[in-house]
Amino acid sequence: MAIQLDYTNMLADVVDGGVPVADWQQAEKEFGALRAQLGALRAKGVLGFLDLPGDRSLAQSVIDYAKNAAGKFDDVIVLGIGGSALGPIAIRTALLAPNWNALSGDERKGQPRLHVLDNVDPRTISALLQRLDLRRSLFVVTSKSGGTAETMAQYLVVRERLTAAVGDRARDHLVFITDPKSGALRPLSQAEKITALDIPSNVGGRYSVLTPVGTLPAALVGVDVSAMLAGAADMAARCDADALARNPAATFAVLQHAADVKKGRHIHILMPYSDPLRDMADWFVQLWAESLGKHRSPSDPGLGPTPLAALGATDQHSQVQLFMEGPPDKTVTFITVGEIGADVTIPALHKDVKELAYLGGHRLGELLAVEQQATAGALARRGRPNMKLHLDRVDAWHLGALFMFLESATIHAGMLYGVDSLNQPGVELGKNFTYAMLGRPGSDEARRELALLPKPNPERVV
Ligand code: PA5
Repeated sequence: MAIQLDYTNMLADVVDGGVPVADWQQAEKEFGALRAQLGALRAKGVLGFLDLPGDRSLAQSVIDYAKNAAGKFDDVIVLGIGGSALGPIAIRTALLAPNWNALSGDERKGQPRLHVLDNVDPRTISALLQRLDLRRSLFVVTSKSGGTAETMAQYLVVRERLTAAVGDRARDHLVFITDPKSGALRPLSQAEKITALDIPSNVGGRYSVLTPVGTLPAALVGVDVSAMLAGAADMAARCDADALARNPAATFAVLQHAADVKKGRHIHILMPYSDPLRDMADWFVQLWAESLGKHRSPSDPGLGPTPLAALGATDQHSQVQLFMEGPPDKTVTFITVGEIGADVTIPALHKDVKELAYLGGHRLGELLAVEQQATAGALARRGRPNMKLHLDRVDAWHLGALFMFLESATIHAGMLYGVDSLNQPGVELGKNFTYAMLGRPGSDEARRELALLPKPNPERVV
């Protein structure tokens, strides 16, 4: 069981536009200083996500809850947004059978369907709520802060309908996942006797997938949560190596950062050649964007790479033209998978049609793997740096390891950019304007600022 990072095509001795070898060597020499910075952050206690694989009581709270819930529900619905939703979505796509929610109960081996309602588009929510049998539904209300407008609104809509459908037993159809102390959900859980599981205080939203945020939905549909945490533990140990060349997360971060600041490669693409991992790319986009897109002072114009999600081979017929010949401002990180499970042999038909005949006898998995190699090679040939993360297979262990790898890489990148990768002050102003417009108490200052915003100019509306 392993994940390997192949960065051959990131360095300038192989790919023209890559990171100069001297910069890489310099980073190796200076790695001690980065390790010391990481040590200081750990000592401050802010990197709680690193301790999650060893938090047995948190894992047990999830396993016990899922055991108790087994057989009681046909549908599990996560209410959450951002870091509270993208992890469960990535887990569902990676570890459950394709089209899971469309399978019969027998095909799902009695496990429930899993829905994640992240957005607040009423069309989506109404359509789902109309389909559900609320008497057989469990709503997992996930919010670290316990106050996010979208999630609270979803909860209120669901709560009213649940109460209408099952009365006082609504509490048995709800579980909260939130901070142990702060936010509105915790006291509500106590007042209403609704079970609440913890997101440790020192684990922020987008680093929380290995808390009950990700592990509870996973356990509720039969995923081996212990294996996921074991994979994460293995990766956390690897990402704690003192030598840069043996530390995969630091290697990823150092090369992406150098590619950005030294070679103008501001756009970092994650491109799995694997349908099960397609939503991992969206999860990474949020992690990389919200953690690294910052300014260091109000006068700082801002810095940080722009992450982008792509899917192989699909995007070979969409974005790859841009990656290949567009501005040389990108790196591509492929994700490949060794054992893909079921493969399909391409029948040797139409042997007289040259566009079809060469495919016969090969397998679809082989075609996918070859296309990834071909794309990586073509990018390298054009001086476009790229690297490859290779997973032996997609299972709970490897997924846990992949989450930990990317989280640890993000922290390393944050230190290199000199930003705080744990906060997201840039989203606060928009939130405060929303509160002001909806009349939340305490929004007076935002309301005053809102009044000063430019109004639409009719002459500029076509
Ligand atoms: O990473 C973050 O902190 C954010 O993306 C949050 O996950 C998102 O805003 C939702 O916040 P909360 O979990 O507090 O409802």
